[in-house]
Amino acid sequence: MPLPYSEKVMEHFRNPRNVGRIEDPDAKAVEGSPACGDMVAVYLKVDPEAQRITDIKFESYGCASNIATGSIITELAKGKTLEEAKKITWKEAADALGGLPPIKTHCSVLAVDGLRAAIQNYEERHGLVKERVPTTVEVVRKRLKHVMNPMTGLDLVRTKIVRDIEVSDGKVRVAIDLPADHQFAANIREEIIEKIEPLWDVDEVVVEFTE
Ligand code: FES
Repeated sequence: MPLPYSEKVMEHFRNPRNVGRIEDPDAKAVEGSPACGDMVAVYLKVDPEAQRITDIKFESYGCASNIATGSIITELAKGKTLEEAKKITWKEAADALGGLPPIKTHCSVLAVDGLRAAIQNYEERHGLVKERVPTTVEVVRKRLKHVMNPMTGLDLVRTKIVRDIEVSDGKVRVAIDLPADHQFAANIREEIIEKIEPLWDVDEVVVEFTE
């Protein structure tokens, strides 16, 4: 039986707004859903004076609900200040779409998480983070839970390919259980660096693979 989607969901799914990527964005984030393994990427352009989102785009690798929610949150966030955009909730997004089936809640949560992660990425890149928690192995591990293992669609930690993490004097070393010439090694390295490097007290990220 097809899921009972509202007219509005179907309209945003068929004609999603703000789809694509921004070349040279001021911030970006890729978030994966632990519930279904789907992913969403959010790109931002921000006016640094007003701290206002001037442009926003998203790419969804998820289902119809995720595409529709990605579309609506980009509409809701465009023109808002970072502080205002942070307050957009998945409930607000789902309501703006005329509701979503309860089984699809995680899809709108994923889109909103993507937006929040992109805002966080902007704040980290621009030294705007208020709570400066020192980076520890646990902090790094938590971030690696948001890096997908493209072979499985689940994150690196859950798929147990993170062999070791070391943090010392602003240097983070992550050892991954994959051969260095693996087809996804370069992509995984790039995603790890993108997630860890913006941390306020990290100067260098080294990703090692097995020989
Ligand atoms: Fe994965 Fe909807 S089922 S985002």
